[in-house]
Amino acid sequence: MIVCHCMSITDKDIRAAIDWMRASDAETIVTPGKIYRALGKRADCGGCMPLFLDTMRKCDSFEVPMNLRGLRRATNSGMNGHAG
Ligand code: FES
Repeated sequence: MIVCHCMSITDKDIRAAIDWMRASDAETIVTPGKIYRALGKRADCGGCMPLFLDTMRKCDSFEVPMNLRGLRRATNSGMNGHAG
C-alpha cells in the first residue's frame, strides 16, 4: 500500500527502513525524517504524516529502546530544578 504518494513510499518500505535502522543501531530513535533519509527521499507536502506515523507505530521493531524511555521526563525534571 502506498503511504506517501509524493515520494511513492509504501508501508513495506517504511517497515524495511525501520528494521534496517534497528539492526544497524539498536538504540536509535526512529523518526519519519530518518526513514525518508534512509530511503534517499525527502518529504514534500506532509499530507501522509498521519498514515506514515500510524504505519511506523505498527512496525514490530519501532519501539523506543527500554534504556531510552523516560528521557523526556528526566530532562523536564532537570529543567524544573533550574527554573527554581
Ligand atoms: S504524500 Fe508524503 S510528502 Fe506528500
